[in-house]
Amino acid sequence: MKKSTASTFIVLAFGLFPWFSVQGAEGDFSRGAQAWVENCGRCHNVRDPREFRDDLWRPIVYHMRIRGGLTGQETRDILKFLQESN
Ligand code: HEC
Repeated sequence: MKKSTASTFIVLAFGLFPWFSVQGAEGDFSRGAQAWVENCGRCHNVRDPREFRDDLWRPIVYHMRIRGGLTGQETRDILKFLQESN
C-alpha cells in the first residue's frame, strides 16, 4: 500500500470510529494504526487488516514482533488496530 493510501485509510478510520481512539490499558487503536504504518510495510507490503480474522492476527503479529523487533506495547497496539479494522 502506498503511504498516501495508508494515510487516507487512517484519516477515514478516525473519522468513522473516533471511539476507538480512547486510551486503553491494553492495546491502543490510534497508536497501533501509527505503528502499523511505520513497521508493517518495512519488509513487505503493509498487510490489510481484513486479510485475516482476529484469531489469526494474534499469532501473526507475535511472529512479526520477533521479525521486526517491536516492543510489547507496539505489538499490543498493532494487534488492537488490526482486530478492530477487519
Ligand atoms: C523485519 C521484517 C518484517 C517486519 C517489520 C514485518 N514483517 Fe511480516 N513478514 C516478514 C517475513 C520475512 C515474512 C515471511 C514469513 C515468515 O517469516 O514466516 C512475513 C510474513 C508476513 C505475513 C504472512 C503470514 C502468512 O501466514 O501469510 C503477514 C500477514 C505479515 N507478515 C504481517 C506483518 C505485520 C502485521 C507486521 C507489523 C506488525 C509485519 N508483518 C512486520 C518480515 C517482516
